Amino acid sequence: MSRIDTAGSFPLGTRTVQRVGFGAMQLAGRGVFGPPKDRGAALAVLREAVASGVNHIDTADFYGPHITNEIIREALAPYPEQLVIVTKISAKRGADGSWIPAFSREELTEAVHDNLRHLGLDVLEVVNLRSMFNVHHPAEGSLEEPISVLAELQRRGLIRHIGLSNVTPDQIAEGRRICEIVCVQNHYNLVHRADDALVDDLARQGIAYVPFFPLGGFTPLQSATLSRVAAGLGATPMQVALAWLLHRSPNILLIPGTASLVHLRENLAAGSLALSPQTLAELADITP
Ligand SMILES: NC(=O)c1ccc[n+]([C@@H]2O[C@H](COP(=O)([O-])OP(=O)(O)OC[C@H]3O[C@@H](n4cnc5c(N)ncnc54)[C@H](OP(=O)(O)O)[C@@H]3O)[C@@H](O)[C@H]2O)c1
Repeated sequence: MSRIDTAGSFPLGTRTVQRVGFGAMQLAGRGVFGPPKDRGAALAVLREAVASGVNHIDTADFYGPHITNEIIREALAPYPEQLVIVTKISAKRGADGSWIPAFSREELTEAVHDNLRHLGLDVLEVVNLRSMFNVHHPAEGSLEEPISVLAELQRRGLIRHIGLSNVTPDQIAEGRRICEIVCVQNHYNLVHRADDALVDDLARQGIAYVPFFPLGGFTPLQSATLSRVAAGLGATPMQVALAWLLHRSPNILLIPGTASLVHLRENLAAGSLALSPQTLAELADITP
């Protein structure tokens, strides 16, 4: 059994994926804009992730824009049968790298076609609609219209499954009245736990919860307790942060992002890091 198998798997739509996956956002240039510093390294990270058993990759055509998807295609196409590529739509990039909401029927439809073309796919396995009422955190507002557009694209056979990102419980309920929602991708990690109740609720319903910024994103997690626990386990703080998520709930799927092979290997190895009840209690005391 490879190390990532130790963490187990969970259903994502009609597929089952390893709980340790990979987030591709770090493979674009600085500020998720433009080409990466080292394209060869980006290709190598993707190929090693998949060779190590990763079968869930998270991306978006607005990373770069287009660049991350083009790198995924170059590294991995023709894609292995078991690989699930999840993308997200509803934003575009300004000439200065800014993130601009792109929620209209035309923009959403164009985004699905852009993802298909740049990834080299006939159908997208999972598309997350990323709410942009507030770019940084979930904010209330009806998503009925954009979700209905996705459901239409699903009926046309361009999308197999639909997920939601940066959303509130009310928006998830609204989405589930329109179509099946197979995953929710929100900001969550050891020190950012606003979604605690939501994680548990989705677990009861068998819906995958995919935390973005599992390592703190642009501001990597820092905590004296985390460092002390990690040292005691002979692991790195980032490995403990990932292992904590895996222990937190069985429906949590990891998509840590890195452009470094060394960090990739560390993150994959976190899948086999066991945390005792005492360690979990210590980590529970960490407050933002
Ligand atoms: N739905 C959304 O709105 C949304 C928003 C943001 C992200 N996402 C998705 O979530 C994925 C994960 O988020 P993220 O990449 O922004 O943040 P993250 O996984 O929390 O952290 C990535 C940062 O941590 C560093 N890192 C990774 N592994 C490390 C390790 N073992 N030791 C030390 N540093 C390490 C990376 O730098 P190095 O490259 O140097 O390793 C990078 O700076 C993204 O790839 C993207 O697919 C979704």
